[in-house]
Amino acid sequence: MRTVHTLKELRAVLNGYRRQGKRIGLVPTMGNLHEGHIALVEKALQAADVVVTSIFVNPMQFGISEDLDNYPRTLQADQDRLRAAGNTLLFAPAPSEIYPDGLACHTRITVPEVSEGHCGAARPGHFEGVATVVTMLFNMVQPGVAVFGEKDYQQVAVIRKLVEDLFIPVEIIAAPTVRDADGLAKSSRNGYLTPEERSLAPAIYRLMQETGERLKAGDTDYGQLERQALDSLYLGGFRPDYFTIVNSHTLKPAQPGDTELTILAAAFLGVTRLIDNLSITRSIG
Ligand code: PAF
Repeated sequence: MRTVHTLKELRAVLNGYRRQGKRIGLVPTMGNLHEGHIALVEKALQAADVVVTSIFVNPMQFGISEDLDNYPRTLQADQDRLRAAGNTLLFAPAPSEIYPDGLACHTRITVPEVSEGHCGAARPGHFEGVATVVTMLFNMVQPGVAVFGEKDYQQVAVIRKLVEDLFIPVEIIAAPTVRDADGLAKSSRNGYLTPEERSLAPAIYRLMQETGERLKAGDTDYGQLERQALDSLYLGGFRPDYFTIVNSHTLKPAQPGDTELTILAAAFLGVTRLIDNLSITRSIG
């Protein structure tokens, strides 16, 4: 596996593959790779001939009080994991390569509506940063297919919308969330949890499953279900941001007639913000 750090090197290598008619897959990441990321690479290898994984801790998507400086940077270990997974090329640019003139005067991509609630409301500017860097990565790599994790449900919705609105010729694949045995979704931020917090963390998934069962059984009192789950999160030691039942496609509050529903949840344990989601389909009548 080769690692490149500049756009010039990236383009030179990719032009070679393109001349050979290879389909290029892209897996954008911020590094500190775990089994969830490797599952994305494996998915991309099924859909493309060569896979570019990018590692870039994107400053534009972090708020001022967030963990940009402390975000784990583990390039050597990430390279080893990617090599073992059969990844073709690693693109690991420095911030100066992506934002040569700095962040303040850089063009930004805003995806209205779908970016606005949930994590968008809790983290102002976050999805603008994601949409901007992902658009840049699409332009730099020009992949035929790109793979993202379903764990970031709203992020996938934002990316699908920007691809549609900007006519970007790339297929988007959302890969299922990879979980630890106790149900906690794999995340680079799980490493921030203390042992006690780690033992509490799976409650988010348990609560989503319980709520999901009630939805499947026909319960449409979404407000009550959300309030009960929020109470349980507080009692379980969390500081919840939201626990909300939405229409899986619009991400707007679920209506009684909706059949495809997604529970979106975000909650702090100590300083660590965990997010997760669960989608269900139910029949009505
Ligand atoms: O999901 C992530 O790791 C990031 O938001 C992404 C898509 C790599 C953009 O920086």
